Amino acid sequence: MPRNWSELQFPSDFLWGTATSAHQVDGGNTNNNWWEWTHREGAVTPSAGIACDHWTRFEEDFTILHSLNQNAYRFSMEWSRIMPKCGVVSQEVIEHYHRVIAALKERGIEPFVTLHHFTEPLWFTKLGGLKQKRNVQFFRKYVEVVAREFSDEITFWNTVNEPNLRAACGFFQGIHPPGEKGVNNYIKALRNLIRMHAEAYQMLKQQAQHNIVGLVKNIMVIEPYRPQSWMDRQLSWVIDYLMNAVTLRALKTGKLPFSFLGEYPGLKDSSDFIGLNYYSHIFCSLTLPEYMKAYRGQVDPAKLCAGLGWEAYPEGVLIALQRLWKELQIPIYITENGIGTDNDAWRQQYIAEHLHQVHEALRQGIPVKGYFYWSLLDNFEWAEGYSSPFGLIACDRDTLTRRVKMSGYWYGTIALNHRLSIASAQNAT
Ligand code: BGC
Repeated sequence: MPRNWSELQFPSDFLWGTATSAHQVDGGNTNNNWWEWTHREGAVTPSAGIACDHWTRFEEDFTILHSLNQNAYRFSMEWSRIMPKCGVVSQEVIEHYHRVIAALKERGIEPFVTLHHFTEPLWFTKLGGLKQKRNVQFFRKYVEVVAREFSDEITFWNTVNEPNLRAACGFFQGIHPPGEKGVNNYIKALRNLIRMHAEAYQMLKQQAQHNIVGLVKNIMVIEPYRPQSWMDRQLSWVIDYLMNAVTLRALKTGKLPFSFLGEYPGLKDSSDFIGLNYYSHIFCSLTLPEYMKAYRGQVDPAKLCAGLGWEAYPEGVLIALQRLWKELQIPIYITENGIGTDNDAWRQQYIAEHLHQVHEALRQGIPVKGYFYWSLLDNFEWAEGYSSPFGLIACDRDTLTRRVKMSGYWYGTIALNHRLSIASAQNAT
């Protein structure tokens, strides 16, 4: 079939990057809840172990990023390493992060730092972790240290990564540590994560007004499994409310999720930008096992995110961007978008189709400022272990040797030209 080529130009100051998180790539994070979770008796998930050894190989990785024309990189600092014990700061680890930031800057890559990405120090867990309101102060102390140390070197900060997912997986479904279940636990953890976000925002702004700080929110487009069913529509509404709406409302109004009382100090408008993590959509119905499914009816297995079973739904990123812009009216960075698959051609298609939608959002006047592909490397995919390769760069599990995939080179040319060339089937008429 004949094809049309379209050239989609992105703004010249658009940020092109990839994203990672400490526990998923660094290796040797032995002092956090995930290490304990994967080493406990009867653990089903393998340990992250040495992961990609990014902790020692970061320079090599940044050199690859530079060769792929990346101008930004999102990574997380590991709280359990910076504060190995309650009240104790590791100067050695602080120095490590100074070297990481310097290595990025030498290569012209803008650091985007996440302060909390799913992991907490073991000592924090032992004090009751995310369920205890009084523990928010410990996160505040960690942010105080980091803000003081790095505000001269870092401009962009992500406070908390996906508070709703952290709370849902760890405290409602029980598939992440601490493995608890129940709506009450979910609400407690979520409220504390939102408090932590507000404290971090205020701390960073107090330290330096030039700090640009935002929460990272995962938006799953939630749809009724049977669109004609009233019950499925109601359930979708409830799940969307629990997973998406309460957090957006908290940022807007300053009221904690599920609170109708006063504002939490410093929460209202506590995001200079919002980070959007977008992967797919999900369907809800009381008739489904566990009430949710990642696709309707049959799906082409080549379109499934390996290990995780999500179906790609590129239109959803536009829906999510429109929603965030309508509700918050602040700049948006796509802080994660990607697919875990062995089929690299499919990865390329996934990125192209999502960027196409991002371009449409820009055309509609939505201020999308950057795109971070998830992920830099094939890495530790939480409960799925190493079974879902998201990387633009493969990482051999035995030798840890890096190999740039075709999709990585291709993404590099988009970043170089700020332009996406896409082929579309030509209409016969
Ligand atoms: C998380 C990442 C994770 C990715 C793919 C996001 O929800 O922030 O840590 O690897 O999804 O599952």
